[in-house]
Amino acid sequence: MDFSIKAFDAKNSIAAAKTGCVAVGVFENKKLSQAAKSLDVNGDITAALKSGDITGKAGTTLLLRGLKGVAAERVLLVGLGSDDAVTEKSFSSGVQAAIKALSTINSADAIIALPMAEVKERDLSWAIRTVVQAGREAVYRSDAQKSKKDPAYAGVKKLALAVPNNAQAKLALAQAVAIANGMQLTKDLGNLSPNVCTPSYLADTAKKLGKDFKFSVEVLDRKQLEALKMGSFLSVTNGSEQPPKFIVLKHMGGKAKDAPVVLVGKGITFDTGGISLKPGAGMDEMKYDMCGAGSVLGTFRAIGELDLKLNVVGIVAACENMPSGRATKPGDIVTSMSGLTIEVLNTDAEGRLILCDALTYAERFNPAAVIDVATLTGACIVALGHHNSGLFTRDDDKHNALAQELLNAGKAASDTAWRLPIGELYNEQLKSNFADLANIGTPGGASCTAAAFLENFTRKYTWAHVDIAGTAWKSGGAKGATGRPVPMLTNFLIGRAG
Ligand code: BES
Ligand code: MN
Ligand code: ZN
Repeated sequence: MDFSIKAFDAKNSIAAAKTGCVAVGVFENKKLSQAAKSLDVNGDITAALKSGDITGKAGTTLLLRGLKGVAAERVLLVGLGSDDAVTEKSFSSGVQAAIKALSTINSADAIIALPMAEVKERDLSWAIRTVVQAGREAVYRSDAQKSKKDPAYAGVKKLALAVPNNAQAKLALAQAVAIANGMQLTKDLGNLSPNVCTPSYLADTAKKLGKDFKFSVEVLDRKQLEALKMGSFLSVTNGSEQPPKFIVLKHMGGKAKDAPVVLVGKGITFDTGGISLKPGAGMDEMKYDMCGAGSVLGTFRAIGELDLKLNVVGIVAACENMPSGRATKPGDIVTSMSGLTIEVLNTDAEGRLILCDALTYAERFNPAAVIDVATLTGACIVALGHHNSGLFTRDDDKHNALAQELLNAGKAASDTAWRLPIGELYNEQLKSNFADLANIGTPGGASCTAAAFLENFTRKYTWAHVDIAGTAWKSGGAKGATGRPVPMLTNFLIGRAG
């Protein structure tokens, strides 16, 4: 789908715009939005509302054809709920409904003339992102591995947004498209089967991104990881035939001396649980256990396209977690790159074992902040469901500020997170009789003890952890990766770039 900006004024009116369709908002009390009024030359829109064919409830639509005095072939009325406030929710459902209607009409182009600058507590940039994301979601297909492709999107392909053609709107649109492109990469990687999307495939994807967007990309293999003494990461790969890959991407858009933001992604391309084998039902979904890694690559796709003026380092720790005669056993003790020894009481708590070494590796960049992203714990789904990612930081002024920055970035990008605690009491749950710490906690607060485990390896810099177990993909009939938290991360980095 192609997006553009089309500004209208008195001389250049919406009514005179030649297009297949104009979508305008109407309200529950039969009131018309500004754009709807300008198309109501003959009273047809007022009549349609009076007839009750459209209630104006948020998410309702009515398609009218051949309105007198309107150059567009069709007018799509879009319900936006109550007229005293267009809320985030009513606007979003209006946009969803409009995109759905535009996907079924036989027209190449259309104009969205919804009240994008009038959404309560949300700015124009948010509204533009909402339209672009909904449009891109409608055309998205996950049929890369089907020999018979799904029916392609057959609706409006060129969508103009009726907003002022100023620098703010142009930038917002460019950012929205870059985020959508990043999300698409993240979704594609997540949805690919795990026999295709291996650690090597992630490494190749990173190299290709590097070529396309001028990132420097380095891929460390087993030998180099051994030399770095990443005993914890390597212990997870023991049972796998697929070689591990440790991928480092650099986007140096800032000043050479500026401390970078480091993003670290969990890239378990399949999580069987290892010797602590997972139950069979639904195990296929553990192909999504690389979505943290996928979102780091997707975020790089976005900041590369935007050529963000910021230094960003991406670290992807990628391997499989498999059972075998060589696999790590419960009770094995491994030595992490930091020197801390870890008793692996459950081989299914493997994410933290690869991340701890990646987090130690991150020290060498003298980072301004490190953010790790991981499908880390099933317990995070119990705690927060599928709406919010879990956000963890230490509890001091510097970290509370970072947490707030991430929460705000997520909220503004409709990709929200919710803060959960770590701290000394959770750390005590990780005590081991035989090693410095155990890789699982005593019962209770499994997301918090997982985050607390990671915290041990992040004391040399400012750090946040994002648990995306509940937000990275959808299960059931609409099974598929969501592309989250690319919007939150990209928006955070946009904010940091200033
Ligand atoms: N990748 C899983 C977490 C997960 C499970 C994410 C289900 C989304 C859906 C992770 O490696 C894992 O297995 N975690 C264990 C930790 C436990 C052994 C302490 C879990 O959550 O059960
Ligand atoms: Mn696991
Ligand atoms: Zn896992």
